Amino acid sequence: MNIVIFTLSAGLALAAGAACAQETPQALAERGRYIATASDCVACHTGPGGKPFAGNHVIASPVGGIVATNITPSVTHGIGSYTEEQFSDAVRRGIRADGANLYPAMPYTAFSKITDEDMQALYAYFMTAVEPVDEAGAETALPFPFGIRASMIGWNLLFRDTATFEPDPSKSEEWNRGAYLAEGPGHCSACHTPRGLLMQEDGSRFLAGAQVGPWHAPNITSDPEAGIGSWSKDEIIAYLGTGRAEGKAQAGGSMAEAVEHSFSKLTPEDLGAIATYLADVPAVSGPARFGQGRPGNMAASFRGLDGMPGGLARGAQIYSANCASCHGFDGQGTADQYYPSLYGNSATGGPEAANFIAAVLNGVDRETAEGHVFMPPFGTQPNAFNSLSDDEIAALAAYVSASYGDGSFAVTPDDVAEIRAGGPASGLLLWVRWLMGAAGLAVLILAGVAGLAKRRRMAA
Ligand code: HEC
Ligand code: HEC
Ligand code: HEC
Repeated sequence: MNIVIFTLSAGLALAAGAACAQETPQALAERGRYIATASDCVACHTGPGGKPFAGNHVIASPVGGIVATNITPSVTHGIGSYTEEQFSDAVRRGIRADGANLYPAMPYTAFSKITDEDMQALYAYFMTAVEPVDEAGAETALPFPFGIRASMIGWNLLFRDTATFEPDPSKSEEWNRGAYLAEGPGHCSACHTPRGLLMQEDGSRFLAGAQVGPWHAPNITSDPEAGIGSWSKDEIIAYLGTGRAEGKAQAGGSMAEAVEHSFSKLTPEDLGAIATYLADVPAVSGPARFGQGRPGNMAASFRGLDGMPGGLARGAQIYSANCASCHGFDGQGTADQYYPSLYGNSATGGPEAANFIAAVLNGVDRETAEGHVFMPPFGTQPNAFNSLSDDEIAALAAYVSASYGDGSFAVTPDDVAEIRAGGPASGLLLWVRWLMGAAGLAVLILAGVAGLAKRRRMAA
């Protein structure tokens, strides 16, 4: 009997050793699943209510929708006939199997850092473990000149870096793992780095904060005031893993989605590695956002008094009627901070009001292993009992900033209307700039090529 157990376990140990030396197809696909999770492929490539990776998710632009396509291994409607090289070119270079350029709405600029080994695993996962879905989705059809995918060639020449991740030997293994996850699969910079004139990421202000639709992805550099340099490693791990760092910040909007589908499913070691890397990202300074404000409610002090600042008195009333039930009469939240305090909070601390406005309008809805977090939206149903007008939200913002922040919000009803409509010109102007820039570059390059050809002809 003992001998049987001994031979069994020895056999198992041998099998395990063999698996390490040569990864089984299942283990390879499993590793690929993890990379796909870290890259959040599912968030963009799944339509509303649709099957995972079946595409049909339209990303709005002013000149038409750009569709994240079906990337299930369906031969008829997905990427079932992609070779490993074609798949790698799409994900890391932005080149489709038919040779056409993808728009950088697909974050190939970050994914270019994914290593060859991980790319192989990702391919194995998509080809063998993802359910094929033989369904056609909407198609991208942008009008001239934006529809010319070749216009991205010029943009790529200028801004695409095709180097895969190279570890920095002067840093620890943990730092390098974090750098890889953050810069490559996790594509933090796609949202957190401000963009230049042609929609390229501004490398000199890496992770210094940018507007993404109605929400603002804040400065997450190591600056202690404007960035997250004052956060402990555990706080960053908690934020990425659950969407909240108590007394500091909580994840709404696109960050809530990234936490829900991607970061909360990474191992604690990997989240720790990302935190270690972030602590080392060069600081970019700006207004302070943390530790501002104090508990209190000015509603009582305004009662029956003449000549009090009208905006603040009105804001205090709106707060008491709509927000105090959860965030506390004094803005202190609940003891367990399931309903967070509004002072000492990154959403109210500095002059940047977008996340305050977006949270009030859209609410917060996030599901992780820790549970469901829900704040109702006050802006989506115009006639609901709890709907607030642009004017009311502007008054509320002034009050909340004065009480629970540093008083520097300067929110007009027009600002609220803008966020309600999806963000500063819905990021629409940005898209126009980006596409026009790309198209303009293409024209310049064509003109250059034509000029060269002409000169050659004249020389001949
Ligand atoms: C931020 C959104 C976003 C994320 C994240 C994303 N994609 Fe995409 N992807 C897109 C969009 C949008 C397109 C279509 C772009 C176009 O048509 O120019 C696309 C296109 C593609 C294509 C080309 C498919 C075709 O039509 O032939 C492949 C393959 C692909 N993505 C794979 C992936 C994989 C694998 C991941 C995760 C590692 C991923 N994508 C993550 C937005 C995204
Ligand atoms: C799809 C866009 C997107 C991606 C990708 C993304 N973020 Fe965010 N992030 C946001 C937004 C928007 C917020 C603000 C959320 C809020 O306050 O409700 C945010 C907030 C944060 C915060 C809280 C900062 C503060 O001061 O309140 C941290 C930390 C953070 N992100 C880290 C990361 C890291 C690390 C990555 C990559 C591993 C990443 N994010 C990827 C959009 C994104
Ligand atoms: C039914 C309870 C409830 C009500 C009412 C409520 N909230 Fe919230 N609020 C929450 C919850 C839950 C969260 C998210 C906590 C988390 O993410 O961990 C939240 C988050 C926030 C945030 C942070 C959002 C971010 O992304 O950083 C702000 C700001 C906020 N609420 C302001 C308000 C204001 C102003 C009102 C009144 C108009 C209000 N809330 C009403 C429950 C509520």
